Amino acid sequence: MKLMVIGGGGREHAIIKKLKENPEVTEIYALPGNGGIAADATCVNIGAKDIEGAVAFAKENAIDFAVVAPDDPLVLGMTDALMEIGIPVFGPQKNAAIIEGSKVFSKNLMKKYGIPTAAYEVFEDAAAALEYVGSCPIPTVIKADGLALGKGVIIATTRKEAEDAIRSIMEDKVFGASGSRIVIEEFLTGPEVSVLSFTDGKTVIPMISSMDHKRAHDGDEGPNTGGMGTIAPNPYYTDELAKVCMDTIFRPTVDAMNAEGRTFRGCLYFGLMLTPNGPKVIEYNCRFGDPETQVVLPLLKTDLLTVMMATASGTLDQIHVEFSDESACCVIVASKGYPVSYQSGFPMELPPDRADAFTYVAGAKRDENGTLLSAGGRVLGVTAVAPTLREAIDKAYAHTAQVKFENGYHRSDIGQRALKA
Ligand code: GLY
Repeated sequence: MKLMVIGGGGREHAIIKKLKENPEVTEIYALPGNGGIAADATCVNIGAKDIEGAVAFAKENAIDFAVVAPDDPLVLGMTDALMEIGIPVFGPQKNAAIIEGSKVFSKNLMKKYGIPTAAYEVFEDAAAALEYVGSCPIPTVIKADGLALGKGVIIATTRKEAEDAIRSIMEDKVFGASGSRIVIEEFLTGPEVSVLSFTDGKTVIPMISSMDHKRAHDGDEGPNTGGMGTIAPNPYYTDELAKVCMDTIFRPTVDAMNAEGRTFRGCLYFGLMLTPNGPKVIEYNCRFGDPETQVVLPLLKTDLLTVMMATASGTLDQIHVEFSDESACCVIVASKGYPVSYQSGFPMELPPDRADAFTYVAGAKRDENGTLLSAGGRVLGVTAVAPTLREAIDKAYAHTAQVKFENGYHRSDIGQRALKA
């Protein structure tokens, strides 16, 4: 089978490595992939948002199955365009990807269908939003409506920060049209849990839970990032909570999307806060999380391609999805200065992959001599699997210590919060 995976980060590397385990797979093309992914797939110089390019490539190369991994192409309708030429696709259609593409849509969906989430208000003009934050409880959360490269959520701990966020999103348009509407919502507290799920709109199968570490520095200090590391499973997410989430959040969300005529087929990501008043949704994503995927997929025992094909064809009820009872830890190695400002182009040497410790490459290219060079903010996801979380953390850090990358930076406390749970 010839597969095509849209995207070029650590998440896509993890997906590709897992898809390769299926002996039926003869070729995987990554659009665009990256210098590290090139070891596991044929990288094609077509951007992840280039729908026309992807459609033409899929036709010319008789692609049998496509996986659209990142948010932008999903929200732009990449799945619809590939389906129109008869290619089965893993990833929701445009009308369902809106669950991530518009925060206003997702908040209104939750309100309409009684799905627990933070209280919120929507604003379309800056003056009204500024007036509101003059008296609302602080901290408060300001969210740009549309996609904003993972930077569109600001937790304001003072009124001044809230006002600055509103001005930069709505007046300075730092996120372009994504900031023409904003959501201002209640600040929730409690442990955070990420639950990715496979759903074909009828069946919903949650994957093993995970925990992201979003702040740049140890002790959860510093600016928000796309994620500096993950562990799975998340010890706060008990079997009892999993049942509550299925009954009050997962199933109701899938049903709500059906009722709205927006059946979701793909990976539906639930970002949850386990508040003193029960689990609540902080965000939905229409795709695999990054770097959650890097710890979830290594623990998946069932063949990924089989599950993805069943998701796309609406036959997920015929599949039994199993996860290992081991633990996994992923340490992100970023360029120094990420997420604010950083340089690329530094040479890197990676330790050889082992069955239980390996590196997913998120941002890299190869020079003319074949040397791997850093390219981007998040560069590597060094991952390990072990019988216990403590062992997985130790192993991931031991493997990270073998990475040669002068400009690399990583947190040294990934998983410590989970160990204290
Ligand atoms: N790790 C959070 C996300 O993928 O959006």
